[in-house]
Amino acid sequence: MMLGFVGSGFLGQSVVSRVQVSSRKDARRNVRVTPRMDAEYRTGVKRNENFSKLQAGYLFPEIARRRNAYIEENPDKDIISLGIGDTTLPIPDHIRSGLQAGASKLGTKEGYSGYGAEQGSAGLRDKIASNIYSDRVKPEEVFVSDGAKCDIARLQMMFGPGTTSAVQDPSYPVYVDTSVMQGQTQLFNEGTSQFDGITYMRCDASNGFFPDLENTQRTDVIFFCSPNNPTGAAASKSQLEELVSFAKKNGSIIVYDAAYAPFVRSSDVPKSILEIEGAREVAIECNSFSKYAGFTGVRLGWVVVPNELKYSDGTKVRADFNRVMTTCFNGASNIAQSGGLACLDKEGLDEIEGLIDYYMKNAALLRTTMIDLGFDVYGGTDAPYVWVSFPGRSSWDVFSEILEKTQVVTIPGAGFGPGGDGFIRMSAFASKESCEEACERFRKMYG
Ligand SMILES: Cc1ncc(COP(=O)(O)O)c(C=O)c1O
Repeated sequence: MMLGFVGSGFLGQSVVSRVQVSSRKDARRNVRVTPRMDAEYRTGVKRNENFSKLQAGYLFPEIARRRNAYIEENPDKDIISLGIGDTTLPIPDHIRSGLQAGASKLGTKEGYSGYGAEQGSAGLRDKIASNIYSDRVKPEEVFVSDGAKCDIARLQMMFGPGTTSAVQDPSYPVYVDTSVMQGQTQLFNEGTSQFDGITYMRCDASNGFFPDLENTQRTDVIFFCSPNNPTGAAASKSQLEELVSFAKKNGSIIVYDAAYAPFVRSSDVPKSILEIEGAREVAIECNSFSKYAGFTGVRLGWVVVPNELKYSDGTKVRADFNRVMTTCFNGASNIAQSGGLACLDKEGLDEIEGLIDYYMKNAALLRTTMIDLGFDVYGGTDAPYVWVSFPGRSSWDVFSEILEKTQVVTIPGAGFGPGGDGFIRMSAFASKESCEEACERFRKMYG
């Protein structure tokens, strides 16, 4: 007899059944015994109750599921994706040659390297400090990683379950979901569509997509993303000064997600919170090569934890983050880091500008098309996301309507928090031709 395990995954919930398979003959009746399903087998391990608090699946797999279901029913339709926000352009030559050089080195006796420093190579930390931050930060404060999403999870592990957090509403779902996983929250409240225990800072047109900090309660941590995913709003220097002084007054730590910093075009919008006076005492900055250089699949990011940032007992936050990285991470891929070095050469930085210009032209096209069609439209000027208002409507309904009528995949704003309902996010990470075609279809639908 053999035991087989059959698993099927749906929205992150996996069903595992035990199949008892026998190929022996039943001697008495001289018949072959057919496989039969036993009662479901379960381990004796209690599920982490924080995971049962999470809502359905993570947003992007859910969008992919709906898109795939639509394709299955309509195999002949031509789908355009302005959805998940994944980069689409190939990696340009100079940066790609950096990746190739990293791989080639591994094939030589002299160039081969195994595990590297958990904090990243000294060369890349130096170059991030000098070429991205103009030496405003020290190399020792830079932790190179496999991307910002993983860094947010590692920061949450460092903060631990007893921490309280605030998030922009709407916001990138990872801040909320990792808070829930850490046990920082109570249950999801169906009435408010929020997790009890998290402070949701509403960001909408009425406050210029910047939270009303005067009426925001103190939390230990404030997650703040600018330029923002999904609204595309980018905080001005004076808004960031307000945020830093709010954190300082309350003794809070800001986790500033600058993954879209290179898309900033407005002169009064800082690319880093560390440009703000006093930020070094209250802020951590997460960043990533993903959207700079099309490294979403390569995986390379970094976190800056300034030396001045301290816990209430005087411990440097940097020391604890160093502990997390050395214990739970084994250093970013040496090939990816070689690509990162190339990104920060003059040629690489020029190539990044070229990629971003391309996507920003798409953003401008989406933005102007939707404005021409009479919608209230936000974002798309300092960010690759265009945030379109459909007042009074469920964003999931609008998402389905757009998919069915135009075969364009967008993202429903409600997926980013209750404050996102009534909005649709359109991503500029697509080819120019796809954006033009999508705009043509929108004109037909809404014109
Ligand atoms: C705001 C924000 N932060 C972080 C990430 C993830 O970045 P990475 O690819 O470096 O994990 C994303 C990805 O879409 C994002 O939108």
